[in-house]
Amino acid sequence: MSHIDHDNPSTPGKFKMEKSSYMNRIRWHYSSLAKLTFWSFVLFLGLILVFFFKSPTSTSSPLPSDLYRRSLRTYSWGGPAWEKRVRASSRTRSRNGLSVLVTGAAGFVGTHVSAALKRRGDGVLGLDNFNDYYDPSLKRARQALLERSGVFIVEGDINDIALLKKLFEVVAFTHVMHLAAQAGVRYAMENPSSYVHSNIAGLVSILEVCKSANPQPAIVWASSSSVYGLNTKVPFSEKDRTDQPASLYAATKKAGEEIAHTYNHIYGLSLTGLRFFTVYGPWGRPDMAYFFFTKDILKGKSIPIFEAANHGTVARDFTYVDDIVKGCLAALDTAEKSTGSGGKKKGPAQLRVFNLGNTSPVPVSDLVSILERLLKVKAKRSVTKLPRNGDVQFTHANISSAQMELGYKPTTDLQTGLKKFVRWYLSYYDSGKKSAQ
Ligand SMILES: NC(=O)c1ccc[n+]([C@@H]2O[C@H](COP(=O)([O-])OP(=O)(O)OC[C@H]3O[C@@H](n4cnc5c(N)ncnc54)[C@H](O)[C@@H]3O)[C@@H](O)[C@H]2O)c1
Repeated sequence: MSHIDHDNPSTPGKFKMEKSSYMNRIRWHYSSLAKLTFWSFVLFLGLILVFFFKSPTSTSSPLPSDLYRRSLRTYSWGGPAWEKRVRASSRTRSRNGLSVLVTGAAGFVGTHVSAALKRRGDGVLGLDNFNDYYDPSLKRARQALLERSGVFIVEGDINDIALLKKLFEVVAFTHVMHLAAQAGVRYAMENPSSYVHSNIAGLVSILEVCKSANPQPAIVWASSSSVYGLNTKVPFSEKDRTDQPASLYAATKKAGEEIAHTYNHIYGLSLTGLRFFTVYGPWGRPDMAYFFFTKDILKGKSIPIFEAANHGTVARDFTYVDDIVKGCLAALDTAEKSTGSGGKKKGPAQLRVFNLGNTSPVPVSDLVSILERLLKVKAKRSVTKLPRNGDVQFTHANISSAQMELGYKPTTDLQTGLKKFVRWYLSYYDSGKKSAQ
């Protein structure tokens, strides 16, 4: 019995099929046709599904976050006028000047670093996706500030490889100051994929393009003091353990340090990671305590003062932004050249990591007292238990390594730095045009 017959068993009492060869051929023909139609349909369905899930504009793709889709879809770049602006912004004023691509240039630290580089004659091109993690109008105001000093910020995402390649085609950047990231420890519980998108995938995109660039640039990038996580040995030194992150943000920064090692090892990229400790100052970030405390104190709203177990003090090594900028510039100036070319390593390259802190942790309640004096308003304090959602009890930097190799020496104490912040805050928000969100 052929397998065709086997598939059509005879039923007693019913019409029994003639097993003539002609009939067999006809049945074989119809059965094959049915199978062919069935498999064509399956293939067609498969193709539709593949197209549906791979499409960047698909709304049901489970992987990229909203941020990812938004950031890669809405920006337009290119064209002769755009290239002209890119070139002009990146041009150095002196022969030995650096030509730096600053990612996250519309951000708090990025704006200060870009302005400082431009002031001393370096070529600076910014890149930022202006996402709405916090009030984008503040990013636009920083952009306007930089524009006045001749810095153009390209609007785009660090995951846009085509854009990055184009930028390196137009300008032979000597350095990349990579500051773009999803910052903040608490937001990671709300939107974890934005951290993976910017801090891991975005870092890899940057390094991929840098490794293939000719010449390869040297890269300085922002890690974070949060990599020390639950480490209890103080002050935190670069040699201390960093394998106990307390937040997804910290974990992505730690991953970044390992990724940096890989690209240094395989491709000869010169890489310097800077572990910033709670940076504050004018044009700061509205999601940070010193910023929203100021806003809430002025509004008469109560502010949460966190307390660790057994009434333990929560303290931070607050570092003024101008000190951080000096550390960033020193890291760029002392960065050795990358050693690879054409995507291949030619010899060992520099790999560094430095703490950039202030070396004097201040209890958060003291920060509030300083703000009260500067704002001349009594704060409504509400002492609350430190939640376990990413914040650590204290941070304290050992900066001897940065001191020795970068000549880094912070000079601004919290009182002086906050005075400058409050002066900026009042003039920025009290001008009547804007209100802190
Ligand atoms: N401010 C601090 O206290 C502190 C402390 C430790 C580490 N850091 C790190 O320093 C860097 C700068 O921090 P900041 O305080 O200026 O933060 P910020 O949020 O003000 O600046 C980051 C900028 O990057 C941009 N950005 C984010 N994802 C992007 C993407 N995928 N593509 C393009 N642009 C993108 C944002 O729009 C923003 O303007 C970050 O890497 C941050 O993690 C900051």
